[in-house]
Amino acid sequence: MFEVKDIKETTLGENPVVQRMSQYNHEQLLFCNDNATGLKAIIAVHNTTLGPALGGTRMWNYNNELEALNDVLRLSRGMTYKNSISGLNLGGGKAVIIGDSRKQKSEALFRRFGKFVESLGGKYITAEDVGISPQDMTWVNMETNNVVGLPGKSGDPSPVTAYGVYMGMKAAAKAQFGTDSLAGKKVAVQGVGHVGEYLVGYLAKENADIYITDIHEATLKNVADKYGATVVGLDDIYTVDMDIYAPCALGATVNDETLAQLNCSIIAGAANNQLKDETVHGEAVKEKGIIYVPDFMINAGGVINCYAEVKGLSSEWAMNKAAEIYDTSLNIINRSNSDNVATYKIANKMAEERIASIGQVKLPM
Ligand SMILES: NC(=O)c1ccc[n+]([C@@H]2O[C@H](COP(=O)([O-])OP(=O)(O)OC[C@H]3O[C@@H](n4cnc5c(N)ncnc54)[C@H](O)[C@@H]3O)[C@@H](O)[C@H]2O)c1
Repeated sequence: MFEVKDIKETTLGENPVVQRMSQYNHEQLLFCNDNATGLKAIIAVHNTTLGPALGGTRMWNYNNELEALNDVLRLSRGMTYKNSISGLNLGGGKAVIIGDSRKQKSEALFRRFGKFVESLGGKYITAEDVGISPQDMTWVNMETNNVVGLPGKSGDPSPVTAYGVYMGMKAAAKAQFGTDSLAGKKVAVQGVGHVGEYLVGYLAKENADIYITDIHEATLKNVADKYGATVVGLDDIYTVDMDIYAPCALGATVNDETLAQLNCSIIAGAANNQLKDETVHGEAVKEKGIIYVPDFMINAGGVINCYAEVKGLSSEWAMNKAAEIYDTSLNIINRSNSDNVATYKIANKMAEERIASIGQVKLPM
C-alpha cells in the first residue's frame, strides 16, 4: 500500500512537491507562511485511515526548504507506521517550523502556527518534538485544542518510552537467549538523557551489567554514580563487550562502520531511525544474526502517552499499553525467524496490514 521508497534526490526537479507526496502516499501538505510573525512551516498529514494524524512539531534551522520538506514527509509517514503498529486509533502526521529555536521563537509565531493547525479542522493533532518546549505548546493551544503534551497534562513521555524499550528488549532476550531475564546481560546504552536514564534504571533493577556513554559529562557521571553503570568513551560504545546495544541518542548509528564493530546479538533502543539505510542495514543485521527490534515500534511509549492525553486515559493505561510492546516485539521476531524475513520488513507489513484492514470498516450511517 505504501511502497517503501527513499526520497533520495537532492534537487526539486519537475513537479516536485506532489510527486514527492505520491512517493510516500501522503494525503495532504499545508505550507504555512506569515511575514508578520516570521512563521515558515510545513504540516504533513500522511494518512488518516485510523484516526486524526498525530505527530510532533519540530523546529529546526534547515539548510534549505527541500531539507525541511523531505524531513516532514519522512517523519509523518513514520508516525503512521508507529501509531498503526501500536494499535492506536491515530493516523500519522508531523509539522516542521523552519527557523532557529534559540532565536526565532515568539508567542505570536506559535499562535499563528496554532491557527494553521486549527484550519485543518482536527485532521492533525500536534505535540512537542525537537526544539519545542511545553511553553511553546501553551501558545499553540491558545488558538487550537488540537495539541497534546501541555504542561500539567500527560507530562514527560520519556518514562513511558523507556518502559516500552525495556519490554521490547526483554522480548528480544527471550527470543535470543531463551529467557527474558536481563540479569548479568551486558547492555551498552548510548545516550543517557531523558529516556536513556530511565532505561538504565530498569536495567539496574534487574542487575544487568550496564555500560554507558554520553557527550554530556555531567549527565554521564550522574547516571554512572546513581546506578553503578560503567562509563565508556563515545566510540568505545560500539566495541565494548556486550550482548545488547541500546541506541538512545542519535539516529543512523547502525551503519556499515558500526556493524563491522558491534559484537552484540540484540539491538534495542529508543532512538528514531537507527538504521542508516533501512533496506541495507535492516538486512545486514539479520545476516549477522543480530535481532533488531524495529525502532518505531519499540519507542512508541511516547506517542502512547500522547494518545492517553487525547482520549483522557490514565497514566496507568499508558504504562499497560507500553507493556504490550513485549508481545508485539516477540511476534515480530518470531515471524522474522519463521518466514526468514528481516524484522523491519515484518514491522512495516504489520503496520500496513492494520491500516488496510481497518480501512475496510465502513460504518453504516
Ligand atoms: N523522549 C521520548 O519519549 C522519545 C520517544 C521516542 C523516541 N525518542 C528518541 O530517543 C532518543 C533519546 O530521546 P531523549 O528524549 O532521551 O533525548 P535527550 O536529548 O534527553 O537525550 C539524548 C542524550 O544523548 C546524548 N547524546 C547526544 N549525542 C550523543 C552522542 N554522539 N553520543 C552519545 N550520547 C549523545 C545527549 O547528551 C543526551 O544526554 C532520541 O533519538 C529521541 O528522538 C524519544
